[in-house]
Amino acid sequence: MLNIGIILGSVREGRNGEAVAKWINEFAKNRGDANYEIVDLIDYPLPMLGAKVTGDDQALVEATINAWKEKMASFDGYIFVTPEYNHAIGGALKNALDYLNPELNNKAAGFVGYGSLGGTRAHENLRLILGELQVADVRTAVTFSLMSDFENLSVFKPADYHADNTNEMLDQLLKWSSALKTIR
Ligand SMILES: Cc1cc2nc3c(=O)[nH]c(=O)nc-3n(C[C@H](O)[C@H](O)[C@H](O)COP(=O)(O)O)c2cc1C
Repeated sequence: MLNIGIILGSVREGRNGEAVAKWINEFAKNRGDANYEIVDLIDYPLPMLGAKVTGDDQALVEATINAWKEKMASFDGYIFVTPEYNHAIGGALKNALDYLNPELNNKAAGFVGYGSLGGTRAHENLRLILGELQVADVRTAVTFSLMSDFENLSVFKPADYHADNTNEMLDQLLKWSSALKTIR
């Protein structure tokens, strides 16, 4: 079975992303067609890429960087769960991606976003970034509206119609993840 990482791309205290990542994990697991696992950026407190780290923290930081790279290398494909911050992905996710390159090459990705317009501008931003990292991003994205899929902008209550789109995104992601495995 394919291994698919669900990358939770927000570390903000009180983030909406956690509920969205749990939802997509449950949804995907119920299909029973791949191994799905949430990867929470909070578990990988990476310094800004290139920032000097000294003293006792150094070994811990190196271990964290290696653990992040190893975890991301272990997947055949990815679902990026990302909010939209200023029409782009958040800084934590961009910084975490900047640590990677060969770990992602010739793999596939799908997107789950949320924001006032469903996180769509963050998706477009992520498509540019992943192009450079040689990740094939699938067409269909899942887009949750802060206004209609969250109560009070904070309690996740996704509308039923997202199920079709989510299945389509997952179908595409698994096809491309499987195909790309043959050339790695
Ligand atoms: C710094 C910042 C910038 C934001 N910019 C946008 C934006 O450009 N477009 C949008 O739709 N929502 C924007 N939002 C709203 C976020 O999409 C919304 O708060 C979302 O819940 C953030 O994800 P999180 O709760 O998982 O951190 C912004 C929020 C923050 C904190």
